[in-house]
Amino acid sequence: MKLQTRKLPLADVLTLAGLLIVVLAASPADSQDSATGAGVYKSKCATCHGQDGGGTAVGKSLKAADLRSAEVQNKSDAELTQSISEGKGNMPGFKGNIIDEEIRAVLTHIRTLAAKGDSAPKKK
Ligand code: HEC
Repeated sequence: MKLQTRKLPLADVLTLAGLLIVVLAASPADSQDSATGAGVYKSKCATCHGQDGGGTAVGKSLKAADLRSAEVQNKSDAELTQSISEGKGNMPGFKGNIIDEEIRAVLTHIRTLAAKGDSAPKKK
């Protein structure tokens, strides 16, 4: 019986341990980012609406709404949720693309964009 042969070479053990750490560290971070409003916004909305909600060149050419504007911010959560899930004008609907929880999270994020702009949201 040679017990020695059952031992893995140290290099292999380190590689496996390293891989495990990479896998464990990477997966929760990824899912967390897509579950946050900012993460969803960055990956699905910023192409048209811009990081700050003011709109990119593409967004402006499609007549994208300025998400910081009072016009948008004065709408109720229900109205905006409807626009995001069903689509509006040139904006595609996101229902089926992102889950309800992500729509809620991204809406919360949109509400924070107004606070940084000059048009503060007013209560309906
Ligand atoms: C392809 C470009 C495009 C993308 C991507 C896009 N939008 Fe829009 N969005 C628009 C346009 C265009 C409008 C203006 C629609 C109108 O009023 O005719 C708009 C309007 C809106 C409005 C105002 C709706 C209202 O009822 O007045 C909200 C809120 C909004 N978008 C949120 C989002 C969110 C959240 C995302 C990502 C999940 C997103 N948009 C992605 C183009 C886009």
